[in-house]
Amino acid sequence: MSREVTLRRPDDWHLHLRDGAMLRAVLPESARHFARAIIMPNLVPPVVTGAQAAAYRDRIRAALPDGMDFAPLMTLYLTEDTDPEDVAAAQVSGLVHAVKLYPAGATTNSASGVTDFDRVRPVLEKMAEIGLPLCVHGEVTDPEVDIFDREAVFIDRVLDPIRRATPGLRVVMEHITTRQGADYVRSAEADLAATITTHHLIINRNHILVGGIRPHYYCLPVAKREEHRLALRAAATSGDRRFFLGTDSAPHVDAAKETGCGCAGCFTATNTLSLLAHVFEEEEALDRLERFTSLNGPAFYGLPANEDTITLRRGDDPVRFPAKIDSDDGPVTVFDPGFEVYWTAP
Ligand code: DOR
Ligand code: ZN
Repeated sequence: MSREVTLRRPDDWHLHLRDGAMLRAVLPESARHFARAIIMPNLVPPVVTGAQAAAYRDRIRAALPDGMDFAPLMTLYLTEDTDPEDVAAAQVSGLVHAVKLYPAGATTNSASGVTDFDRVRPVLEKMAEIGLPLCVHGEVTDPEVDIFDREAVFIDRVLDPIRRATPGLRVVMEHITTRQGADYVRSAEADLAATITTHHLIINRNHILVGGIRPHYYCLPVAKREEHRLALRAAATSGDRRFFLGTDSAPHVDAAKETGCGCAGCFTATNTLSLLAHVFEEEEALDRLERFTSLNGPAFYGLPANEDTITLRRGDDPVRFPAKIDSDDGPVTVFDPGFEVYWTAP
């Protein structure tokens, strides 16, 4: 059965583009479909100041192939030394659209993140005053807390206290992976939203561990039990304005994934839209796909939705996506959903 769905051109509200050879390899995969993306600042060294964000934006623009049209929306990496006035100036100039909070040690390149949340209070207060969103990697790093509980515990121990202490602070819970995350977002009428990745709508923790360990399904926050995947599907396909797409497409070369201590990250930029059409069709929610990919995100970030459109088509034969893309640093494996997909994006 052929079928098509036309959407305002999507945006990706959480994307890792890296730098150098990897940036050149992965940028076209996102720019082919997405008009804009919130660019994660966890480079080595991290993108901490407005000046560093401007330089990184220029490197992204320079890496964009001719004829492609893509706007990087920059973020700053919050440290305990971040200067509130630098943050404010970076927003006023239109450069920076969010500040990213990584609890120190929570994930890839998060060593410069926050340990003592009281020390970032002046920055958070400034952000509340100027309406600049805080994007949060919501996992505690306490070694006593089981990795599958780290998101739920973060909400109680860290996020809710921060939000109560900082009225007006606009927060995006990034890549939620639990029912508790979705419920917490729904409990707030304003100033709180969540991104959901493509892969967390598709895999649960069994996919990572049953029948052999699958390093390309390992990401952080790690996929949880099936009940949580279903809760994420319900949230993403509901049309609720508080949920929108952030792919968290996070490339690592195969050598860094297929090793004794592999890096976290799923690379989904290449096939994300086809996979989302598949998921939304399964949930009989294709009419709500545009809200998730193209409308809810810009509304939260105070930006207009894109004017141009993209048409996804369902054919009769399975689509063959590349298994890997090449970079000068080595191959990167494209996320394999483990089922046939019939949807193509141009
Ligand atoms: O899986 C992940 N990969 N989660 C993160 O939070 C970071 C990301 C990366 O940078 O590779
Ligand atoms: Zn990420």
